Amino acid sequence: MCGIVGFTGSRKAAPILLKGLTRLEYRGYDSAGIAVLHDGAIEVDKVSGRIAKLSEKTKDGSLVPGVIGIGHTRWATHGAPTDINAHPHLSNDGKFAVVHNGIIENYLALREELIADGYVFQSETDTETIVHLLEMYYTGDIKSAVMKTASRLEGSYALGIVSTDAPETLFVVRESSPLILGIGVGENYFASDVTALVAHTKNVIYMEDGEIAELSPNAISVYDCTGQKITKPVSRVTWNVEAAEKGGYDHFMLKEIMEQPAAVKAALAPRIHEGQIRLDDFELTAEDLKDVRKIIITACGSAYYAGCSGRYVIERLCRIPVEVELASELRYADPMVDEHTLVLVISQSGETADTIAALKECRSRGAKIIGIVNVVGSTIAKLADYTLYTWAGPEIAVATTKGFTTQLAVLYLFAVYAAEKLGRLSPEKYDSLIRQLMNLPKRIQEAIDMNYQIPSVASRYASQSLFFIGRNTDYAIALEGALKMKEISYLHAESYAAGELKHGTIALIDENQPVIAVCCNEVLADKTLSNIVEVKARGAKVLALAFRGNTKIVSQADDVIFIPRVDAVFSAILAVVPLQLLAYYAAKEKGCDIDKPKNLAKSVTVE
Ligand code: AGP
Repeated sequence: MCGIVGFTGSRKAAPILLKGLTRLEYRGYDSAGIAVLHDGAIEVDKVSGRIAKLSEKTKDGSLVPGVIGIGHTRWATHGAPTDINAHPHLSNDGKFAVVHNGIIENYLALREELIADGYVFQSETDTETIVHLLEMYYTGDIKSAVMKTASRLEGSYALGIVSTDAPETLFVVRESSPLILGIGVGENYFASDVTALVAHTKNVIYMEDGEIAELSPNAISVYDCTGQKITKPVSRVTWNVEAAEKGGYDHFMLKEIMEQPAAVKAALAPRIHEGQIRLDDFELTAEDLKDVRKIIITACGSAYYAGCSGRYVIERLCRIPVEVELASELRYADPMVDEHTLVLVISQSGETADTIAALKECRSRGAKIIGIVNVVGSTIAKLADYTLYTWAGPEIAVATTKGFTTQLAVLYLFAVYAAEKLGRLSPEKYDSLIRQLMNLPKRIQEAIDMNYQIPSVASRYASQSLFFIGRNTDYAIALEGALKMKEISYLHAESYAAGELKHGTIALIDENQPVIAVCCNEVLADKTLSNIVEVKARGAKVLALAFRGNTKIVSQADDVIFIPRVDAVFSAILAVVPLQLLAYYAAKEKGCDIDKPKNLAKSVTVE
């Protein structure tokens, strides 16, 4: 949940490290630090708080001399976010500094052992054990000390190491945490994410578990876990640095909401050729699909809600039973999964620890795994049997928006593709669904354009507590709408299946309890309308979300947000857009830190 970055070259390192950290700040933002080697000594600067504070302290890095260094932005796990617990951590002899993303699970035992051996700890972190192990194992060969240290660590780690005994060389090693090397001209880099590298280079190397690398200004050498040199493929990043910048918007979240028409198009268009879906990434035959007795969708947070929505679409079109399971639950549920189960694993980052564990659990029981992932080269993309990339481009705001809608787009594609293969669709229905899929980017744009009044609606509805209700796919979107509201505006928001209110929750409804009713599923619209009438009878103010032209809703709800009309199976991808905007403007009204909500981080790489 942290971001790490490193640079070696002939330019001043500190400004480059700080800029890189700024791009990684979405990964964690409670403290930050850099370590730069100069004149045979390592200078460490670290602060609790944001990168901006570190930049201020070091005058954007200009006060820190040196052309090789490492940096870290933290989401605290072991020890409070204080200056002392911030990374980098230094060895007692001052020879090594380390930054770490991940968790060392056996750190307590290691800490006791190291203390008994006379090492003095400054911090409460698990990471500090690593730097003392390096000192302990170092006898003149840093690579060998790194390998010995790594062999003692249990858990997940991407480590960046600088040493006074290697004035031009950085050392890195990874296990279950992302790590990417950037190849420059006369300079090289490492980072947790390509967003920190694209300003310098588009040529990158994705490190795999167990691999170690040495980076000097003119060379990168990668070794396997036995120390054998290996040749790694160089990948080319396909997007530009502007994609990871705000581009005139106040927040990344708003920019990413506005990017949804283009992002959904990028997810759909390359896979639809002459009216036919072709999953360029892989092919499933009718026989493969007939062998599937059930589908499990597993994910966390918003990705889980994308799965909840996708379930209705897959079941309706394919008539295969679908279970949607929270990855954090599935991993310990002794799940009923076998070789006839197809598991769809959804993750924007591809690095969510619970989702990875659920994937492994299902794989160990013989299931085939399809990853629906945004980040190229991420762990889930590598572990899955097949990967369907969502092609949303970099998503920086902690609250996902285009990550979510592109997940829905890919789930829709999968559902229509599988239904057609299984012979469940008439040619006319298939053609009509394909046409509608192709039109979704335009419809999303309309959903944005026709809702210019949302800032004022948000200011009227942003009260202390909100209820979101809906049925079927509307319920899935109510869940996502409530999560968006909670995570960025800190307003209490709950979501209920509309028909469930009367079984207890309705006791909470009164004139102080606004209700947001998602009412886009036309088959069930009248049912949800009855629930609107019920809550209105108890005094609630109701904001409804419905298809354009739904006149019945206007007479019942206090306010209505409209979206363009589409086939009910695809309504969720439109319905969520105004709810994202509603949460955004509610949070803005409250003056919240929208892109970096408190206590959160973008990719949750801890259990
Ligand atoms: C969504 O806004 C959240 N920040 C969060 O729920 C997120 O969707 C969840 O942590 C899963 O992340 P992933 O898609 O990267 O696996």
